[in-house]
Amino acid sequence: MANQSPSRSNSSRSNSAYSNSSQSNPSFSEEIMELLIRFVTVWRVELVLVALPTALGIWLDVHHGPIAAGVITGAVVFAIVLPPPSRHLLVRILHRESVRRHLDVAFASLPGILSDRPPIIGTVNRTHGGDRVQLGLRHGTSIEELVRAAAIIASSLGVRGVRMAVDPAHQNLVTLSIIRRDPFETNGLCCPMVKAKSFDAWEPIPVGVDEEGEIVHVSLPEHNVLFGGEPGGGKSVALSVLVAAFALDPSVALWLFDGKLVELAPWSTCAERFVGPDITLAISVLQELRAEMDHRYGELVARKVKKITPGDGLSLHVLVIDELALYVAGVDKKLADRFAELLRDLVARGRAAGIIVVAATQKPSIDIVPSALRDLFGFRWALRCATREASDTVLGSGWSTRGFSAADIAPSMRGVGLLLHEGGIPVRLRSFHLSDADVAMIAERAYRLRHHDADPIGTR
Ligand SMILES: Nc1ncnc2c1ncn2[C@@H]1O[C@H](COP(=O)(O)OP(=O)(O)O)[C@@H](O)[C@H]1O
Ligand SMILES: [Mg+2]
Repeated sequence: MANQSPSRSNSSRSNSAYSNSSQSNPSFSEEIMELLIRFVTVWRVELVLVALPTALGIWLDVHHGPIAAGVITGAVVFAIVLPPPSRHLLVRILHRESVRRHLDVAFASLPGILSDRPPIIGTVNRTHGGDRVQLGLRHGTSIEELVRAAAIIASSLGVRGVRMAVDPAHQNLVTLSIIRRDPFETNGLCCPMVKAKSFDAWEPIPVGVDEEGEIVHVSLPEHNVLFGGEPGGGKSVALSVLVAAFALDPSVALWLFDGKLVELAPWSTCAERFVGPDITLAISVLQELRAEMDHRYGELVARKVKKITPGDGLSLHVLVIDELALYVAGVDKKLADRFAELLRDLVARGRAAGIIVVAATQKPSIDIVPSALRDLFGFRWALRCATREASDTVLGSGWSTRGFSAADIAPSMRGVGLLLHEGGIPVRLRSFHLSDADVAMIAERAYRLRHHDADPIGTR
């Protein structure tokens, strides 16, 4: 369809004006017809929306006169346009049609096979940051061609960018995210935990917003998370978002280790144990937690179950370590190795026993975090990294060549990172922000919740 007009104009240019005059009329009318059909197809929804009240007006005019026609038609139009629900529906429909039209034009301008066989446009839904469109790829085309054309599509649409994700089960189904606004522009996204009275740690924790402005949740039971990124990237803030959620569940036992002392100190009143930069104490507390894990396994065997589940009376234990390097790469190598070995055991065996490990360090390269420990962390959260290699060290090798590198994050975008969790593909997100005042307020609420509602020791 798109290549018909160039060939027609070429042929008309090559023929003389008089020799083709007899043939030009049919092709001209054909072209008018084609344009008309195309116009009706492209603007069908808008035409129906205009045609319905027009038809009503004409009918009323014929049967009841022009005054009745004007008054009744006007009243009907206002009754639809004025109430917010129907107005919003109308706006949504018109927006959806506009997106379809713009995409049609964008696809027609693509190079190669995609302009001849443009994707079929399915449902269009608005997101906080733009739109999400379902596309069906036609035979002979693939997601790779569409991804290569991303910049052209974005510039045709006049938007910040577009991203494509193929449905793993159906390689012809693609979700196209149109990014109109950058949701990361908002500095200090408010964390839902600021207002939460309490939280159930078995529920997914809201941790930030993705590029579409949707809230990203992480489900942590049976998972461990490793944070990495350069200083000031936002590791401790993101860590505190998780700690806030766990603290607001009075059944959760918090074991907090902070090499810098100041980051997790505000949560110490809600913690089972709080350890500063003291490696000997850190080792003895890890041994305590390991004893708890072994005790748990004895309990699970007695109950004839393989893992703890919500409502079985066995609470979650959450071990949070900020500045992990201080413990696993300290000056006393023997103590550091002992710590790393205990932690490796907890990460390796703790899942079924309800032990969750969340650790942050600047660069988890193997000279700092032994690979036997690092590789056990299933979820990875990379804040800004200095290099693509450093980003791969956090997320796992190969992600930067697949377009997911935390080195691409601007230094000013604190809290923006890549989170690799359930979906299997890193999600770009900006974590919620918790100010010192927010942390103090949530910690105070969590403390009162714990002292009124539950005894963490009793629930162990
Ligand atoms: N999600 C965020 N939104 C806005 N600002 C943030 C965010 N995360 C971090 N920051 C800012 O960056 C600073 C450094 O963050 P921090 O978590 O201490 O970094 P790191 O632990 O990686 O060194 C914070 O004091 C805060 O001002
Ligand atoms: Mg920090």
